[in-house]
Amino acid sequence: MRVETSAPAVAGQGVVVVGAGSGIGEACALLLARRGASVVCVDRDAAAADRTASSAVAEGGRAWGWHADVTDAASVAEAFAAAEEHLRQVHAVVNCAGVTGPLGLRSHEVSLPDFDHVVAINLRGALVVTQCAVPYMLKHGYGRIAHVASIAGKEGNPGMVAYSSTKAAIIGMVKAQGKEYAEDGITINALAPAVIRTAFLDTQPEETLRYMTDKIPMRRMGSVLEAAQMLAWMVSPECSFTTGFTFDLSGGRATY
Ligand SMILES: NC(=O)c1ccc[n+]([C@@H]2O[C@H](COP(=O)([O-])OP(=O)(O)OC[C@H]3O[C@@H](n4cnc5c(N)ncnc54)[C@H](O)[C@@H]3O)[C@@H](O)[C@H]2O)c1
Repeated sequence: MRVETSAPAVAGQGVVVVGAGSGIGEACALLLARRGASVVCVDRDAAAADRTASSAVAEGGRAWGWHADVTDAASVAEAFAAAEEHLRQVHAVVNCAGVTGPLGLRSHEVSLPDFDHVVAINLRGALVVTQCAVPYMLKHGYGRIAHVASIAGKEGNPGMVAYSSTKAAIIGMVKAQGKEYAEDGITINALAPAVIRTAFLDTQPEETLRYMTDKIPMRRMGSVLEAAQMLAWMVSPECSFTTGFTFDLSGGRATY
């Protein structure tokens, strides 16, 4: 048997990263560009999207910034039309747009407008991203989509009912979508990270951080690079026989 070994083949691929302005999305956009992908960096924060794209270009990569808000389907459709023009083919999409919503409230205390806001971004927004991406992929008979769920969607985080519900729904959404496009050359998967160290967490007290890592067998947070590396592989041609699945990234916390 001959087994080919090569670096994950994202070189030459056209990738749209939604939520590329900071955190995991920024790290993923930069990593993909470093590995030779052409990347359209989309975010509701236009300046942040441009900043990520400029950093990628400064490192010698090919990248463009684009403003879109996943709660506004027309703006996402425009982003994909622009992406197809820049990239010539949208091979892959990584969707990192997400918000936690209010923290520390029990369900009876949560305001419905706040709940709806989290649903509009985390869940409806993820559907909008899939809806806008798939027609371009069907045309070519090829595509990779990765959404970011969370350990909160598997286990439920108290005080985060909207976040936990939407992340559980993403896990269900990719199961359905994976089967819908399984014969079209398009895979749709999710990543479920436990806590990942982003700039936001640098501002939190040490006790809070310890509380977060206590349930993780590796006793540490994940890094944005670790998340980016898995996402980059999930949207590469190498990840070819898995769809509708939620990959774990939890330092051993979730073994299912
Ligand atoms: N950081 C963690 O510990 C962690 C753990 C599990 C899952 N996640 C998930 O990973 C994803 C990225 O998280 P992060 O920590 O990097 O967060 P982040 O806040 O650093 O990045 C999210 C990005 O999405 C953008 N965004 C938010 N709402 C948007 C909208 N309506 N339209 C377009 N862009 C929008 C933001 O401007 C921001 O640039 C989120 O879905 C989050 O729920 C994060």
